Formats: sequence, structure tokens, C-alpha cells
Amino acid sequence: MPSHDVLIIGAGLAGQRAALAAAQAGASVAIISKVHPVRSHSVAAAGGINAAVSVDDDWRSHAYDTVKGSDFLGDQDAIEVMCSEAPKEVLHLEHIGVTFHRNDSGQLDLRAFGGASVKRTAYVADITGQAILHVLYEQLMKHHETVDRYEEWFVTSLIKDETGACVGVVARDIRTGRMETFTAKSTILASGGAGQAFKPTTNGLICTGDGIAQAYEIGAPLMDMEMIQYHPTTLVENGFLITEGARGEGAHLLNGDGERFMEKYAPNKMELASRDVVSRAEQTEINEGRGAGPNKEGIYLDITVVPKKRTLEALREIVNIGKDFAGVDITEEPILIRPGQHYIMGGVKTDVDGQAPGIPGLYAAGEVACVSVHGGNRLGANSLLDTLIFGRRAGEHAAARALHTAMPKVDDTKLREDEQRIKDIISRPKDGRRISEIKDELGTTMNQYVAVYREEEGLQKAHEVVRRLKEEAKTAYVDDQGTVFNQDVLGAIELDYMLECSEAIVVAAIERKESRGAQFRVDYPDRNDEEWQKHIDISRNGDDVPHVSYSPVTITQWQPEERKY
Ligand code: FUM
Repeated sequence: MPSHDVLIIGAGLAGQRAALAAAQAGASVAIISKVHPVRSHSVAAAGGINAAVSVDDDWRSHAYDTVKGSDFLGDQDAIEVMCSEAPKEVLHLEHIGVTFHRNDSGQLDLRAFGGASVKRTAYVADITGQAILHVLYEQLMKHHETVDRYEEWFVTSLIKDETGACVGVVARDIRTGRMETFTAKSTILASGGAGQAFKPTTNGLICTGDGIAQAYEIGAPLMDMEMIQYHPTTLVENGFLITEGARGEGAHLLNGDGERFMEKYAPNKMELASRDVVSRAEQTEINEGRGAGPNKEGIYLDITVVPKKRTLEALREIVNIGKDFAGVDITEEPILIRPGQHYIMGGVKTDVDGQAPGIPGLYAAGEVACVSVHGGNRLGANSLLDTLIFGRRAGEHAAARALHTAMPKVDDTKLREDEQRIKDIISRPKDGRRISEIKDELGTTMNQYVAVYREEEGLQKAHEVVRRLKEEAKTAYVDDQGTVFNQDVLGAIELDYMLECSEAIVVAAIERKESRGAQFRVDYPDRNDEEWQKHIDISRNGDDVPHVSYSPVTITQWQPEERKY
């Protein structure tokens, strides 16, 4: 049975940064990932990473912008940690080899991004996440003696001992189907978000809420789950991300009448207001009949106003995406976009060291976690930062905890249960619904009722559908009965994870009877600080029903105020 001081689930930026930090602190580390690490979803974070590195900037300004972006739901102590540690982290990345863009005087170049009061986004063209991920993976190789990598292994359960501590996981080798128990003094979830519960989404097929659901299953509270980010610029055809970097470089948004409509909604920041504001503005234009394109279902993103040389240099990935997936040369003509599901602000509740309350030994970092630095709405280019700062902090803390913790003794009860669970899935009769069909209905339902605009009736309907799909998922059948690369059986487990996450999202959205950040309730259109400036926590108390409780928002220096851009 493999045993490690620190076990990390997920090898995107949060996972790899945690692994590096824990290894540098002297821990024996293992990192388990269901895909090869450089195929992790962090690769898709395109436009950049925020840090107050300019002499004209200050981390407090970054923190204030983040607090305002969160619509005063973010915890300000955590935001202070993230923003004050950001410059050092970005310089560290630069020093280990990330080829950030430089300006003519040789300094780090910074681009504008939404909701920021100054230019503070460091970038590598529009492949920033990919560039960082590859450099971190190279660094991890240096630690091959202390960091074991289990690539293409799929975690099926977290294990708790009789004291309530997390003591490891059960995982399946995707290549062979072999199941194994991994014991660990500290376990860090870094397995990303749950975007695949929505259709369409900018998220990769691997973003199925695994870590969120696994932690929830063993009693960890989830927080801010109602806060789902719709990114303002995703392709109408398929939901692919067109980076906010385009607007950062000066691109305009136009409605079907050719108007630069953001003037009405955010006269000061225009296209660079925060994402919730821009997505709502676009959706309003579409809903009121001023959309663009054949069915008036989109908005034009006009990148032709950016000098062509600059577009080809700084936005080359979306030049390719435009051509390959929409048949549009963005240097010559506008491209049709609309708001699309992109990110979940909520996740496993943690403190600033990544610890999940009430479950010693369990940590979470990155999109799977909710610290909460994003509150009601995340600023663009704060997600890469979040993964690195809290990945590192979780790695360091988990390694320190391991120093004074004995290696847990774990029997094979959970392993046997999970082996049986998989046998049961494989032997289901073929009279249920197909997994893909259930997933499709889930995604479409979430995108219809739990999107930019929400109201009670739609949310209740979404809840009913999710409950029904949970029942149907129990008998959904799989075609592949083999052991080698059986993606079918993993798909069945992932479906359960997505359904758990969806139920928590919908229940929290029903609960919050106000509009704040990404949650706009048509039936409660105002922000109501008196009653709702608090986090909604969702937990399972040993049953199959989400339980709601509240926790306070931490305020340090910025009192709530009206939010205008
Ligand atoms: O638009 C983007 O480049 C996405 C970045 C992010 O979500 O932080």
C-alpha cells in the first residue's frame, strides 16, 4: 500500500505548486492525476495572472479591486494574503523560466483585465496557464526522488479514519483497472472545478467536480456554491473561451444594432467591467432583442480595432480558435460570442492554509476550494494566482503537519467497497438511460435555469430535474465491461460527482434571496447586505440531502459599498 507524507489529487497548477512546496519542505509527496499533468485544465487559463508588480501599483489596490469584484462576499483576510503574496509568486515564476511578455524597456509587460483599476496582468501571449504549467512540470521533474507521480489514476473515494481525519484515498489505475489504497498524513485536493455540469462550458471534459463531491461525501462543508461565473466571451457555436485578453487589448463589444452597448451598463470601465456585469449586460441585450447574428443569440466581439500586428503577437491562440472553430479571421471581422459557463467561485470551504474545517488532514486548493477570495464573482486573471498562492500554502502546511503526524494505518474496507461499487456499475442491466443522455439533460438544465439570470420557479425546476437525474444515474448503463481504459465506468462515477455538485449549487441559489455577483435573482433584484452578506455553507450530515448553514464574511478594511464600474 503506497504511503506518503503528502498526497495531492490533481496535477494542474494548484496541485503541482503544492507538490513543489511540500517537496521543498522535505516531505515525501505523491501526486495523482486522472490525466497527464500538462493536460490539466489550468492549461486553458489564457489571458494572464494578476499581481501588483508595477511601481505604480500596490497590492492593496489589487485587494480592493478583488473585494469589489467579489461584490463584498470575498473574505478580506484571504484576499489580503493572495494579493500581498502575488508579486513574489509572479517573480518566482519568472525566475524558474516562465517566459512572460516584456515591454520595450525589458520589464514585465502588463495588460488590462476586467475589474482592475490599473494594468496588472502579466501574460504569455494568450497561453499563460499552459506556459506556467509546463514550467512547473519541469520543476517537478527535479524532485523525482521525493515526488511520485501517478498519472492517469482516478480517485474513487477519500478515506476517513475513526477519529474523523482524512488518511488517504482509494484510486483506480485507468490503464489496467487495478484499485489501490494510498495512505497519507495529509491529503490535498487540487482537482479543479465542476464546469461539465453545465452545457456548454469553457471547461475541459475532465472538470467534473470530483474533489468537491468527494469532500462533500465525507462531511466537508462546501461554500459559495451558488456563485457560478459566466464568462462574457465564449463562442456561440460551442462555448469555447475567447480570452478576456482580447478586451484587455482593446476589443469592443457590439450588439446587433452595432452599438457599443457597455456605455449603458458600465460607462467608466466599458468592456472591462467585471465579468458578472459584462455577462449580464450581454444577456440583457440578447433578451431584449438586440442580439447579433442569424438568430440574434450572440454579441459581436470586434478585435479588428486592435492593431493586427499586436493581435498576431499577443492573441495568437484565439486567432487560431476563431479560424478553426468559427470560421472567422478575427483580425478582419468581428466574431460572435455570448456568455458561457466558465468557473465556480464556490467549492470545499478552507482556511488560508487550505485546511478543510472539521476534517484534520484534508486540504483543498485551486478551483476545487473556496477560501473565499472570489466571493460572488472572480476577477479575470485571479484564478491562476489563486491556484499558485493557495497551492503553495497548502503544500507547505500539509508538509509541516506531516512532520508531527504518524503514518495512519488504513485497512482495505474502502478499497473493497469501491471495487464492489465498480463491479455493480459494470453489471447494471441495459434498461436504464445512457450516461451521456443524463449528462446532457443535466448540462442543458443547469444552463437554462442556473445561469446569468435566475428566479425561484426555474431554480425549483432545476432542483427537481437534478433529483430525478440522481435516481436515473443509479441505473444508467455502461457499454464497456473491461478493465483497460474503461472510460465508461469512470463516466458513471463522474456523473454522480456532477450531480452532487449541481444539487449543492441549486440549493444554495434557491437559498440566497438577493442579487450579488454572479447570482442575479430576477425576483430579488437588489443586493441585500443586511440579510445576505454572509456565506452559504452546504453540507451532508450522513444523508443524501444538502443541509444549509451560514458563515460570516470576514471584513478587514473595506466596508460594503455600492458597486459601479
Ligand atoms: O479570459 C481568460 O483569459 C480567462 C482567464 C481567467 O479565467 O482567469
